[in-house]
Amino acid sequence: MTDQPRSTNVTYHASAVTRAEREVATGHGGATVWLTGLSGSGKSTIAAALEHRLVAAGIPAYMLDGDNLRHGLNGDLGFDAASRTENVRRAGEVALLFADAGVVAIVPLISPYRADRDRVRARHTEVGVAFVEVFVATPIEVCEGRDPKGLYQKARAGEITGFTGVDDPYEAPEHPELVVNVGLSPTEAAEQIAQLLL
Ligand code: ADX
Repeated sequence: MTDQPRSTNVTYHASAVTRAEREVATGHGGATVWLTGLSGSGKSTIAAALEHRLVAAGIPAYMLDGDNLRHGLNGDLGFDAASRTENVRRAGEVALLFADAGVVAIVPLISPYRADRDRVRARHTEVGVAFVEVFVATPIEVCEGRDPKGLYQKARAGEITGFTGVDDPYEAPEHPELVVNVGLSPTEAAEQIAQLLL
């Protein structure tokens, strides 16, 4: 589906505004901060803290949370491999639009497949927009101990199948811009990420 676009006979219409002009208007260049890690690793909490930190500093930032996107844009997608790939592709394209507009897009998504994340990175490189991959490296035992949504328990009981880290794969990034190890508070983690952008 993703490799065979069905939109044919379409022409790209360039904007009359350059990215540099947009940066003057917003006072800051856009970027995408992509947080990957297991469910319960703290991605969304760190993302929310980062969004707050940046906006408080006058930097336009917007969180595109995986769970939230699945309430709307990605509500038609499940959790099989192809759906996760499409989930990541769509979130990546939306983030790229936000970043091109001069906003820091913050994307906490499990995004378990390395190739999917690398495609998002490649799209950003192609367009010339900064992409910062952050691996929230909380071990599964800790995520499972937290189990904020009770989903690990359901997965272990067999009530949910194909749950990331239990009976579905997670491929850690090989060269992320930053690794957030367990032990940092969300505020500390957000600060480390913010320092990469300021
Ligand atoms: S992704 O794998 O496609 O990137 P995404 O980040 O959008 O996942 O959504 C993950 C959230 O969906 C989890 O935090 C959890 O609340 C919920 N969820 C429901 N089913 C699953 C599942 N099978 N695997 C992982 N997360 C699931």
